Amino acid sequence: MNNTLCSVAIDGPAGAGKSTIAKAAAKRFGFIYVDTGAIYRTVGLAACRAGVAKDDVQGVTALLPGLAVRFDYGPDGAQRMHLNGEDVSGLIRTPEISLYASAVSAIPEVRAFLLDMQREMARTMSVVMDGRDIGTVVLPDAGLKIFLTASAEERAKRRLAELREKGDPSTYEEVLADMRLRDHNDETRAAAPLKAAEDAVLVDTSSLTLEQSIDRVCALVEERFFPEGTK
Ligand code: DC
Repeated sequence: MNNTLCSVAIDGPAGAGKSTIAKAAAKRFGFIYVDTGAIYRTVGLAACRAGVAKDDVQGVTALLPGLAVRFDYGPDGAQRMHLNGEDVSGLIRTPEISLYASAVSAIPEVRAFLLDMQREMARTMSVVMDGRDIGTVVLPDAGLKIFLTASAEERAKRRLAELREKGDPSTYEEVLADMRLRDHNDETRAAAPLKAAEDAVLVDTSSLTLEQSIDRVCALVEERFFPEGTK
């Protein structure tokens, strides 16, 4: 492991709180937060816009050479996604694009297409990177791997609250069904399925508040990278 750069890999199912917790931990330690789900969502959006069916592997693969997927950070520090030069950060956050992202992320060519851009970040900066395969595939040498999870019901409740805030009319039943479908897709796909790395620390947030979850993750970062106040 590089002496000066720290990599934290946070994997887990949709709605476990990964992005909020990872973002808060990155901020606390001055690391860069990398949301890899947003990258898959951007490819999902491209497929949706092109009118390619979710399960059309050849159709999605054929789009890849024409896609410029990039990300950067805005003045507020938020990660922004760009698709062929257009800022699509808001457009990728709909339930429809969630399902597209889940489907396209099962395609090995899509995963290969996006791999280097994720690894490049950790080569040059200290990162907290969240996704599904960060500890297993993207950063197998990460200094700290966390598998963050919560029950499907609890995750659906949290996701519903987020959607409601944006005025999305989805019901709890719909959100729970989407969540289960995505879990199933993510866990059973052949390419880089969602699973905890053998050396990952399991954190179940079902009965933790957001603050408690953040503190738990930050305590793990502290312990691993800055023992006895070496920061
Ligand atoms: O974390 P998210 O809900 O924004 O991710 C969207 C989809 O992208 C999710 O269904 C699984 C996929 N994904 C992936 O396969 N690998 C990653 N590292 C991140 C996300």
